[in-house]
Amino acid sequence: MASVEPPAPAAPDGANAGAEPSVRLRREALLEALDGLRASPDLPALRAALGALCVGVEPGGGLRAADDEEAVVFPEGLLRSELAQIGAALTLERARYYAGRLRKAARGARTAPINEIDLNRWKSYGDIVTDSLWLIERRDGSGVHRADYWGNFVPQIPNQLMRRYTRRGEWVLDPFAGAGTTLIEGQRLGRHVLGVELQPALVERARRLVAAEPNPFAVALPVVSGDSAALDFRALLAEHGATSAQLAILHPPYHDIIRFSDDPRDLSNAPSLDIFLGLLGRVVQAVAAALDRGRYLALVIGDKYARGEWVPLGFLAMQAVQERGFALKSIVVKDIHGTAGKRAQQELWRYRALVGGFYVFRHEYVFVFRKR
Ligand SMILES: C[S@@+](CC[C@H](N)C(=O)[O-])C[C@H]1O[C@@H](n2cnc3c(N)ncnc32)[C@H](O)[C@@H]1O
Repeated sequence: MASVEPPAPAAPDGANAGAEPSVRLRREALLEALDGLRASPDLPALRAALGALCVGVEPGGGLRAADDEEAVVFPEGLLRSELAQIGAALTLERARYYAGRLRKAARGARTAPINEIDLNRWKSYGDIVTDSLWLIERRDGSGVHRADYWGNFVPQIPNQLMRRYTRRGEWVLDPFAGAGTTLIEGQRLGRHVLGVELQPALVERARRLVAAEPNPFAVALPVVSGDSAALDFRALLAEHGATSAQLAILHPPYHDIIRFSDDPRDLSNAPSLDIFLGLLGRVVQAVAAALDRGRYLALVIGDKYARGEWVPLGFLAMQAVQERGFALKSIVVKDIHGTAGKRAQQELWRYRALVGGFYVFRHEYVFVFRKR
């Protein structure tokens, strides 16, 4: 019989994918053993059944699957911790509950419609962040990812968002594509990404980076040069045979903190905060027209400081999205680390903060919305 394995929480969506040894078990035999264990009349009997099951999962044990047998595959650490939890339960009811959970995981994948996280094995996705505070020590610099474009975000941001809010083969829109970080992550994760960027030189750069990275899932990664406030995203998607998108990731300029170009359509050149918010709103509307109902939009933005006052740009931008048919799902605060090159500047800001009575920005936001 051919080996039939479940769609494992494997690369690229799974935590620890490839890193940890796995255990292949005979699925039906394991389910039977767990049913027997759960039918135990008392805790000592259940523990005895668990002892037998633990022997069975060891190398050479009766539950181990041969190469040609249908198998359920567990990361070894996960399996051991699940079994240990059953053994440590203080009541029969609790032990049965833990055994039931392991049984569910053995039966197969259970995923939500908007991602590929197997909820029966939710414990194995340790690297999918669910807290609202993101402390990302080190930028992912693997493959073609580079930190030298001033203003690009760390690849972990689009990586986390795509794994939470899309399935393989779905479409992601990035209307402020910059040097293509989202496209590169999409390429690795098997998501199609349509990027739009105002500066033609950056479009070329993003295309070069994408071309230099392997495309294991053969996804489409078009990068268009244009003004995202005045584009028909549905028409752009149609050029690639798609009718809509399932996620949008917006990383606009943080108003005028960094001037990205001299182009008056560039949001970083908006002459006032109100104009900036209005332009951002137009981009949100353009993107929303191509996004499926019930799907997600993420806005990555920070605050700014002007004329001696903290301007809550993040929250103002958040409201601009909410006003355009989106329900707020989360406010994530992400840390900002200075690069070595900026260290001297940081010292200066620290001095200015001490003099001026304010705090230096060390965070930005990832706002997560769902289209109503
Ligand atoms: C914060 S950066 C995005 C960086 C990107 N996430 C990356 O990792 O490379 C904002 C980008 O928005 C672009 N931009 C500004 N106004 C735009 C507009 N109206 N349409 C399209 N892109 C725009 C800028 O040129 C800049 O590259």
